[in-house]
Amino acid sequence: MTQTDSTKVGAGIAAPLAVFRLAKVSDVSQLVALEKQIFGSDAWRASSIRRLVTRPEAEYTVAVLDSGEIVGFSLFLLEGETCFHIGNLGVVEEQRKRGLGRLLMERMLERSRQLGASRVYLEVASHNHAARAFYTKLGFTETGLSPAYYQDGSDAVIMDYPG
Ligand SMILES: CC(C)(COP(=O)(O)OP(=O)(O)OC[C@H]1O[C@@H](n2cnc3c(N)ncnc32)[C@H](O)[C@@H]1OP(=O)(O)O)[C@@H](O)C(=O)NCCC(=O)NCCS
Repeated sequence: MTQTDSTKVGAGIAAPLAVFRLAKVSDVSQLVALEKQIFGSDAWRASSIRRLVTRPEAEYTVAVLDSGEIVGFSLFLLEGETCFHIGNLGVVEEQRKRGLGRLLMERMLERSRQLGASRVYLEVASHNHAARAFYTKLGFTETGLSPAYYQDGSDAVIMDYPG
């Protein structure tokens, strides 16, 4: 995807009309605020987000309303030639359960097919039952556990997309 590849998508009956595009350095401050709002003390720092927005092997996508407000984001990283690691996904609380998370994920899965990925996987905190249910709904299966994966000592469940 290039910086100019944006698509207007109506995400179902109740979903807002959002434009999906690659994140830019000028989005970083909004992304930092969103991270804090969604992930609290686990939020990524501005320096990490800025690095990921500019790294060639990573794609940070944002869902933007007409007002300019970013209401969702996703991130994947290519590891090696073909390993597709989903690194982040979030939708602002007031826009959840309206199809935006699914659209962000479907766009990433489409990119994984375009890139010929041999594996698509992610980690999710074992206590994040909502996200685990969401990923399961979208076809991911739980394939492993990384003990004490997160800074607070909590475990990560590894989930793979069978393709
Ligand atoms: C997980 C998240 C991205 C889902 O986004 P969303 O826009 O609400 O998801 P969608 O509306 O596209 O839902 C897609 C499907 O998942 C289901 N789903 C969504 N949230 C769910 C939940 N909390 N529990 C169970 N199922 C859920 C929906 O019902 C929908 O299924 P359907 O199409 O059969 O109705 C969002 O809840 C979020 O940002 N959570 C906080 C951040 C987070 O935990 N991110 C993951 C970190 S690894």
